[in-house]
Amino acid sequence: MFDLVIRNGTIATASDVFAADIGIRDGRIVQIGESLPDGARTLDATGRYVLPGGVDSHVHMAQPSGEGIRMADGFESGTRSALFGGNTCVLPFCLQQKGQSLREAVTAYHALAEGQCYTDVSFHMIVSDPTPAVLGQELPALVADGYTSFKVFMTYEGLRLNDAEILATMDVARRTGALVLVHCENEDAIRYLIGQHESAGDVAPRAHASTRPVVVEREATHRALSLAEVVDVPVVIVHVSNGAAADEIRAARARGRKVVGETCPQYLMLTADDLDRSNWEGAKFVCSPPPRDKQEQDACWRGIEQGVFDLFSSDHCPFLFDDPSGKLNARGRTSFRHIPNGIPGVETRLPILFSEGVMKGRIDLPRFVALTATNHAQLYGLERKGRIAVGMDADIAIWDPAVRRTIRHADLHDGSDYTPYEGLEVQGWPVTVILGGTVMVDEGALVGPKGQGRHRARAHSPLAAR
Ligand code: URP
Ligand code: ZN
Ligand code: ZN
Ligand code: ZN
Repeated sequence: MFDLVIRNGTIATASDVFAADIGIRDGRIVQIGESLPDGARTLDATGRYVLPGGVDSHVHMAQPSGEGIRMADGFESGTRSALFGGNTCVLPFCLQQKGQSLREAVTAYHALAEGQCYTDVSFHMIVSDPTPAVLGQELPALVADGYTSFKVFMTYEGLRLNDAEILATMDVARRTGALVLVHCENEDAIRYLIGQHESAGDVAPRAHASTRPVVVEREATHRALSLAEVVDVPVVIVHVSNGAAADEIRAARARGRKVVGETCPQYLMLTADDLDRSNWEGAKFVCSPPPRDKQEQDACWRGIEQGVFDLFSSDHCPFLFDDPSGKLNARGRTSFRHIPNGIPGVETRLPILFSEGVMKGRIDLPRFVALTATNHAQLYGLERKGRIAVGMDADIAIWDPAVRRTIRHADLHDGSDYTPYEGLEVQGWPVTVILGGTVMVDEGALVGPKGQGRHRARAHSPLAAR
């Protein structure tokens, strides 16, 4: 009666840890209980944790970059890497380029993803050109079609929106019940600081961090929260790197605002000193906001522990390091400002939080599940994902908490040529990963077919629903 049974495991949800068997049929979880009969296939999970597959709601794959710069992952390698890292669903951004219609952008992304994916995917939009047609017709139509969230940028030339444009875009979210994500850094302040550093001849990768200090993120976070308050919409503050920005979220919540905070592994594990490594190796750590220092790492951990951050995402945004199309492009070698922003991390997100968070006693297993799967699915309207419960998609990761591994890029599955976490020792790893009832990774070996992952339209976020 079952296609697949997972026996003898310790199941964790966002609220509970318990021993039970899971019965799977037609891609869904159909029974959870003791001593279930064998299925067509039965997996023994003795000594292991059985968790919902990770949902990584902030990744970049196949995203067009500047001239000559190429993202290191398309959907094939990006979702393969995600899968090996215990994920069964990722939410990549679909970038609208200037002058491009949103529909055109979505169609192009679907063409790239079709038949290529090892995990399910669901796109957020990035609105970079909020013309009257985009705000009046295109965006509302896409929201109605299940693209129920979109990101706006306060930084990056060519992407950033001004305050009037952010207000107008947030107003679309208000009218359509969509959710807005904001990248909070003050572009004008950054440009001022870049000018200063460049005129002083300070062009090495470290200056990337110096020109994007905490204050530019704090100010923009405050402004994004204020603009959302003016329009009266909930807002997601993505990739928060420091305590001052976290405090802005706390303050907005104290005013009764609906705000969700997200942080990422790089803000727990890396610092600006990593950008100082010699021979331009610092370029490997260039992302925005930049990694900070030990004190801000601690502040981010507090944000995780106290629930300021409900999302822990990778912000996977991979570029090759040693390649003219990546970090060390011809212009990148002349100044930090031309190093593409972003680092790989979709495969290491879960093992890092499991090892540093759960194994070191900072968070418990239900909080881990909430931060890495359940909250993402719930917030972004993936109603059958992120939970182990009857009726849910059978998207499951079986973890061996005893496995000790040293993270090496050679062992990962993305398309980049490095990991920023090279040499990091972790305990606990997802050894078997199941997507919609299909075993995709079996004791560390890829056994599932490419194309098994599909695009999923999403319901409205319960946070934003009118
Ligand atoms: O440096 C980063 N984070 N690159 C990815 C794009 C973004 O801002 O999320
Ligand atoms: Zn961003
Ligand atoms: Zn403030
Ligand atoms: Zn990002």
